[in-house]
Amino acid sequence: MVSANNTSKYCSSDHISIRLGIDSDIPQIITLQSFWLNQPYVNKKGFLFGSPYSEFELKQIISNQHLIIATVDSSFAGYFLVDDVSRNNLTEKYRAQLRILKQQFAGKVCPRAQIAISPNYLGRGISKLLTKSMISRLNNEYESVFSMVSKQNCNIQKHIRNNWKIIHQDHLMYYVKLELRSF
Ligand SMILES: CC(C)(COP(=O)(O)OP(=O)(O)OC[C@H]1O[C@@H](n2cnc3c(N)ncnc32)[C@H](O)[C@@H]1OP(=O)(O)O)[C@@H](O)C(=O)NCCC(=O)NCCS
Repeated sequence: MVSANNTSKYCSSDHISIRLGIDSDIPQIITLQSFWLNQPYVNKKGFLFGSPYSEFELKQIISNQHLIIATVDSSFAGYFLVDDVSRNNLTEKYRAQLRILKQQFAGKVCPRAQIAISPNYLGRGISKLLTKSMISRLNNEYESVFSMVSKQNCNIQKHIRNNWKIIHQDHLMYYVKLELRSF
């Protein structure tokens, strides 16, 4: 478990913890995912796109230990998942892009990631804590994680601060890579 408090980003009373997700987190994950999926693309705080993860898919991702949770003072504050199990139109697009960009990757790649912070807890560095924790959990399993970020999502600079690298782009998307030996 990673914990943080008393740094300049947080109120001194905040206690942020990072832990593996469990099945009983699924309702809060689905609620938060649905909140960001329903935001318009012009939203200044970002959005998610694509089909929602089903309860069945989230259970598989959790059992693979590929989903981590942030809590603040024990309240659910966000999640980060990496996904090599789901199969739908969007994940097939991710896999197709990954095949096109395969020269950019040396070892085993996880083909998709998703991160979302609760609107109440944005801007506190929680995404970085989740990213660091995921890196330390995954770096024996994968060399890197692939993802796609819409160019309409204003959060690309935050992803770059969290060590994602842009490896390609077109008019719609940034194609990004998180190296797991990077932090
Ligand atoms: C994307 C998201 C997870 C980032 O979380 P956050 O709470 O907003 O960001 P954090 O406070 O963790 O900041 C992450 C880093 O970006 C930096 N940062 C914040 N705003 C920034 C900006 N405008 N430009 C550059 N860096 C910025 C932070 O300082 C921090 O880096 P540091 O710790 O090295 O200083 C969150 O905004 C979110 O869930 N958005 C909605 C869903 C979404 O868009 N998901 C991503 C889909 S691709």
